[in-house]
Amino acid sequence: MPDNPFYITTPIYYSNDEPHIGHSYTTILADVLARYHRSIGKDVFFLTGLDEHGQKVQQAAESRNITPQEHCDDMAPKWKKLWEKLHIQFDDFIRTTEPRHQEVVKNILTKVMDAGDIYMDEYGGYYCVGCERFYTEKELEGEKCPQHEKELEFITEKNYFFKMSKYQEDLIEYINKNPGFIQPEHRKNEILGFLRQPLDDLCISRPRNRLSWGVELPFDSDYVTYVWFDALLNYVTAPGYLGNTENFEKWWPQAVHLIGKDILMTHAVYWPTMLMSAGISLPKKIFAHGWWLLQESKMSKSLGNVVDPLKLIDEYGVDPVRYYLMREMVPGQDSNFTVESFIKRYNSDLANDFGNLLSRVTNLMHKYFEGKIPDWGESTPAEDKMRENAESTTYLVNELMKSMRINEAIEETMQFIRSVNKYLEKQAPWKLIKEDQKSAGRVLITASESLRIGAKLLQPIMPNRTQTLLDTFGTETSELGWGQIMPGNKLKKHNQLFPRIEIHKNAESRKAEGT
Ligand code: MSP
Repeated sequence: MPDNPFYITTPIYYSNDEPHIGHSYTTILADVLARYHRSIGKDVFFLTGLDEHGQKVQQAAESRNITPQEHCDDMAPKWKKLWEKLHIQFDDFIRTTEPRHQEVVKNILTKVMDAGDIYMDEYGGYYCVGCERFYTEKELEGEKCPQHEKELEFITEKNYFFKMSKYQEDLIEYINKNPGFIQPEHRKNEILGFLRQPLDDLCISRPRNRLSWGVELPFDSDYVTYVWFDALLNYVTAPGYLGNTENFEKWWPQAVHLIGKDILMTHAVYWPTMLMSAGISLPKKIFAHGWWLLQESKMSKSLGNVVDPLKLIDEYGVDPVRYYLMREMVPGQDSNFTVESFIKRYNSDLANDFGNLLSRVTNLMHKYFEGKIPDWGESTPAEDKMRENAESTTYLVNELMKSMRINEAIEETMQFIRSVNKYLEKQAPWKLIKEDQKSAGRVLITASESLRIGAKLLQPIMPNRTQTLLDTFGTETSELGWGQIMPGNKLKKHNQLFPRIEIHKNAESRKAEGT
């Protein structure tokens, strides 16, 4: 069994939402990291799933005249279908309505109660269903929710509270002692800044008569819990907190939680304190990325289009969408998603630099070498340079992938691909062939091997198109090291890897459709 387990999670998404680009980004990022770690021989467990309890689901089900469970059962396949479309290879898909999860919630609530960390109190606040949380007057704009701009109702009720404040000092100490725990760095500082103020306790229940769609509290059947004290626990349910200790001990200490910055507080403050109270060790890392911003009006003016990743997938294929999302966002910062920048990135990186290179190299081998990979021959300093370049790029890309700097790993790989283009231009095998067939062959196999390595480095990001490239050369090995390509192999026919997108035609046809 491979050592060094790697456990990666996405947030579990509200099953009620329509899956969009933001959810897709986090899940693709997790998939890329999972694929990468599998490729370096790690044993990987990749978890995603759905957050199915709460008032929103209950209300949506009521409006459809079906039960909340029926509503959830109807939504879950839609999410799974999107992940299938995006080629997400998860190992487990958890739903908070599953009995395995509800048992864990009850078990941990009992432990926290036994530790003396849950008490009942009366609480008054403005409740927003959209956010599924109470707001204090200070946080409101008038009586409106700052996120949803809806009038909120002041509700007073008795509820159960978790003594989060009890763990404030322990949490600060833990964060300071484990510098990699919250990343990127500025997010860690945000949390440490927040923890300078006294921490409130956390309301963890709802009276059943106001909300029934949650997990019943094991110590009071008139109350349920949902969202945070329910959802966060999914991360320990799936690896077997109850019922599979061996598995749990293998995966849990390695857990890396990928989240958007919107849920940093819940993951970096609520979750660790809950775990401390339940006597469970903390996850290895919490990594918060920024948001994708959609500037709809600007986009529709320029290209007459609204960004919908599903439409993009249908139009341009899943790999380019994965590539764009991974290349364009600097982890930790926000990014704008526009069709224009997508097309620009696609044409320059994928069509021009990468896809064209494959076509040029294979065309020349078809023309001059009967469609076979030529011999290596005697290398010259130019080939030695390409090899060094391939090796240093591979080293760097590995380091970057391990530290989740995927956009930089992609850029390094693309710079390498651009250097192969330059090498080909300079060596000009189409000229060399006239006087020195061997040298022309040496250049073509060198370019092909470089392309093969480039494709291997991009494989976690674009598993399909890179496989087409690898199949073209017919190398059996999955090794990254230089010199794996087989002289004499017959090239397999391939379609153009990334056909160029004609921007003008596209924009005009969209305009013509009036969209
Ligand atoms: N159900 C909770 C999470 C519970 S985890 C124990 C939730 N769900 S959500 O459906 O709202 O999804 C939140 C996550 O989706 C974000 O944290 C982020 O990972 C992703 N994104 C949703 N919109 C986003 C953007 N516009 N941009 C990037 N990612 C965002 O919160």
